[in-house]
Amino acid sequence: MSYGGINEGIYDYAREKDAIIVDLRSDTLTKPTAAMRKAMFEAEIGDDVYEEDPTVKELQKKAAALLGKEDALFVSSGTMGNLIAVINHCNVRGSEAYCGNESHVFLHEQGAAAQIAGVCLHTLPNNDDGTFDLKKLDSAIRTDRIHEPISKLVLVENTINGKIIPQSWIEELMVVARKHNLKMHLDGARLWNASVASGISVQELAAPFDSVTFCLSKGLGAPVGSVLCGSKSFIADARRRRKVLGGAMRQVGVIAAAGLIALEETVPRLVEDHRRALAIAQAINQLNSKIFSINMKIVHTNMIFINVKVDNGVSAVTFMKRLHQVNNSNSKDDKIIIRCLALTETLVRMVLHYDIDDSMVDAAIRKLRYVIKELDPQVEI
Ligand SMILES: Cc1ncc(COP(=O)(O)O)c(C=O)c1O
Repeated sequence: MSYGGINEGIYDYAREKDAIIVDLRSDTLTKPTAAMRKAMFEAEIGDDVYEEDPTVKELQKKAAALLGKEDALFVSSGTMGNLIAVINHCNVRGSEAYCGNESHVFLHEQGAAAQIAGVCLHTLPNNDDGTFDLKKLDSAIRTDRIHEPISKLVLVENTINGKIIPQSWIEELMVVARKHNLKMHLDGARLWNASVASGISVQELAAPFDSVTFCLSKGLGAPVGSVLCGSKSFIADARRRRKVLGGAMRQVGVIAAAGLIALEETVPRLVEDHRRALAIAQAINQLNSKIFSINMKIVHTNMIFINVKVDNGVSAVTFMKRLHQVNNSNSKDDKIIIRCLALTETLVRMVLHYDIDDSMVDAAIRKLRYVIKELDPQVEI
């Protein structure tokens, strides 16, 4: 199935059609701001493997303080941060870690837990709100039998598919985890989105967890990097793991500098991405289409998911492809290309980020109205 991710010809096509592109595929697409580039240019640097890079140290210190953890480590990616956490917490081969079946660590990290760490991921079905059933977790936990793996860790993702996990559930999870002596790791790739939208501090969101990864290169807009946070001894172990994974970098302050700007300047403006996501979602639902709809209950942050009722040849893929096209060069509304991802036959994802301003949101809404009206003739505008 055509996912819609890579389409190199689209820029030539847009030029040929004199169309603008609104790229809503992911918040990983952002380019560093002028302030980030300046900070990168001016960064004070040293060899970080010798722990002599002042900019990296500043970023780590700041991240640890913000999350209320003892220490932090700059890593190249969210995937690396999550993997190091799994290796650290599951310190015996043949361990088992529990996570939701929609979690990134299970779906999109190549089974790194098994591939690299020798850890089984045991998935639990994610509920619509991103949680999973704690009774199911409780009964999945292993007893001390020679036949079974050793239960070690629970992984939670917040936000998950743009949804904020209820903090009350995390507290209940903590009771189960502590009862069974399991560690807890938070994949907080978009932790700041969760904090800004819920009004709960990142420190509070992170508090129940033994370790947390957050990404600087998603909604926060830095070009590279994530930060893994935890106790002093956890981070000392993490530093060793990072080295063997090839993730120890040298004068890496040049990229950590952008991360510092991201924490200072981008966090306060995430609220704009959330407002814009909501505006697009509401505009779609106002059309009262029987084919295209959004469950507003799950629009919490910067992601929207459009449900497409497969009908009369319309599917998520045909919808996405039509949004990529300009069929009527005389229509200003059609001369807009929206890039997005058809995740399944019935689901299209759009993600807001700081390279998308209000004028682009207006353009996206005009194109969506145009295309939805065309594909669903019962829609009246
Ligand atoms: C929820 C979540 N966790 C982890 C990652 C992995 O981050 P990276 O792409 O930096 O490895 C991603 C990437 O999109 C993600 O969405």
